[in-house]
Amino acid sequence: MTITPVKMVIDTDPGVDDAMAILYVAHMPEIELLGLTSVFGNVSVEKATRNALRLVEDAGLNVPVAGGAAGPLARDAQPHSYHVHGAEGFGDIPAQTPKGRALDEDAADFLIRMAREHAGELVVCAIGPITNLAEAINRDAGFAKNVKRIVFMGGAAFVPGNVTPHAEANTFNDPHALNVVLQSGAPVTMVGLDVTMQILLDGDDFAALERANPNHGGFLNRASAFYLEFYRQVVGVAGCGLHDPAAVIACHRPDLFESRSVAIRVIEEGEEIGRTLPVDEGAPMVEVLTGGDMDGVKNLFLRAFGPATATA
Ligand code: RIB
Ligand code: CA
Repeated sequence: MTITPVKMVIDTDPGVDDAMAILYVAHMPEIELLGLTSVFGNVSVEKATRNALRLVEDAGLNVPVAGGAAGPLARDAQPHSYHVHGAEGFGDIPAQTPKGRALDEDAADFLIRMAREHAGELVVCAIGPITNLAEAINRDAGFAKNVKRIVFMGGAAFVPGNVTPHAEANTFNDPHALNVVLQSGAPVTMVGLDVTMQILLDGDDFAALERANPNHGGFLNRASAFYLEFYRQVVGVAGCGLHDPAAVIACHRPDLFESRSVAIRVIEEGEEIGRTLPVDEGAPMVEVLTGGDMDGVKNLFLRAFGPATATA
């Protein structure tokens, strides 16, 4: 059976788990990556653009990178997550200057152009604060109709947040932008903490990735040490959530997940800012992933880097 690849743009703030998602795509012929757009979040937008360029070069992905938003639409800017992802975004791995440079076109214009050129086919997978997508919607009334679906990693509908008791990091960073996206009329899938914290990767999993693929898996094994230490010390969990990779996997393997159609209102101020609150009515409907074949998702991610090899 011939599988038509999913045409995808990834909007990203790399970030350890962003690197996991992008390197997964490099090994997944079922996804046709059209480009990356960068956004502030885990790191500054300058570092996010640099890291995105480095990832496409290291992964041998011949796709463009467009630089995006340096801060949120309306709220006060929050500190970047260097304590989670390391000073340069990839744990203790030093910064590396990429060979290439970003497009002159910015992220929102690139997204608008891709959505027009691939109308009805483009899936946008947003794995950082969703500011660039809100900007594309604000600039182009046709953007929401041109995209096939927006799949975003963020939010926590029925579980606690990870930066506050109420909010997940990406939605906390730009709640107004998520409201713009939800109200745009585009079909939206939310891959929040409800599902991503059900899939944990630990040190043994990353070591197996390195054995399966010394280059990409080795990079992720080195980058993840700092990230896993954050999870161990601060979250109290012996593994990291498969946040951003789960969002990418949901784009091409939705059959692995269970979901509920939920009306979601994003709280824009006060103590609960960034909360993705399920409400009875008066808010846009969102497909919220709630679970599914979690072992299947994890195994799909791990196997993408090569066959499992015996412990050294
Ligand atoms: O809450 C997890 C999300 O926040 C992930 O996208 C991670 O990379 C950070 O951006
Ligand atoms: Ca991210």
